[in-house]
Amino acid sequence: MGLKTQLKKVFPKTLSNYGKSVNSIVPFAFSRNADVLQDIQEKYHYNGDFAEIYAHNKGCLIHKWHHYIPLYDRYCAPFRGRTIRFLEIGVSQGGSLQMWRKYFGNDAIIYGIDIDPNCEQLNGLAAQVRIGSQNDPEFLESVINEMGGIDIVSDDGSHHMKDIAATLKFLFPRLNNGGIYMVEDLHTAYWREFGGGYKSKISFFKIVADLINDMHHWYHANGLKHPEISQYCSGIHVHDSMTVLEKDKTHRPTHSQIE
Ligand SMILES: C[S@@+](CC[C@H](N)C(=O)[O-])C[C@H]1O[C@@H](n2cnc3c(N)ncnc32)[C@H](O)[C@@H]1O
Repeated sequence: MGLKTQLKKVFPKTLSNYGKSVNSIVPFAFSRNADVLQDIQEKYHYNGDFAEIYAHNKGCLIHKWHHYIPLYDRYCAPFRGRTIRFLEIGVSQGGSLQMWRKYFGNDAIIYGIDIDPNCEQLNGLAAQVRIGSQNDPEFLESVINEMGGIDIVSDDGSHHMKDIAATLKFLFPRLNNGGIYMVEDLHTAYWREFGGGYKSKISFFKIVADLINDMHHWYHANGLKHPEISQYCSGIHVHDSMTVLEKDKTHRPTHSQIE
């Protein structure tokens, strides 16, 4: 299958956005005959088994940026082998759900949601799949209730700024303490087709900047811009195209001197 056909399957509604010069992921595609495993291991000095789980994926198509793999492991390792509740937004062809199942193990409660009704056929394979939109709060609420809560969210859905923001605003307060919230493919934050733009006021990175200021609200007088998130956001990690927020109750900082 050619790269364009593969991309069309993974990004059925947005392929046109990927064909333009700057707004394109196509120039970053890894050579089809090259060694994916070796690329991940060597570039990122990564020896964990997540790279093998990804590189040896079979059956359902999966499409990931190579640098995400060590990051997934860095942030998700504490949850591995436990009865955690994981929600993937944007299932596409099911390869990523298969990958998460292999990584987390059989005890994990894994759900995926997608707006595309074709994804219904993936239900019950590696995970439970529910059809609906990430910007529909009632739908999200029903999925969380079914899951019995959530520990990890991976937003790999529409990648549209307004959807990413609305979903975060709704789901982050519902995430269990100690959980993490990952947002993928944030190169779209620079692309107008996704509601983004360089230094745009509605770019997701504007929210991230607000969250950083909120985190340091103890040291300025401008208050909290996103209290529903910031009061429980204990860590903000920004990587190329991926942001990870850690959830835990925040505390007024204290310091001491010990002799
Ligand atoms: C980038 S693909 C997901 C790729 C998949 N996670 C993987 O790694 O192989 C994005 C998916 O998000 C879905 N999607 C787009 N808009 C959505 C929305 N508003 N709510 C839920 N899913 C949406 C698309 O139908 C598509 O299947």
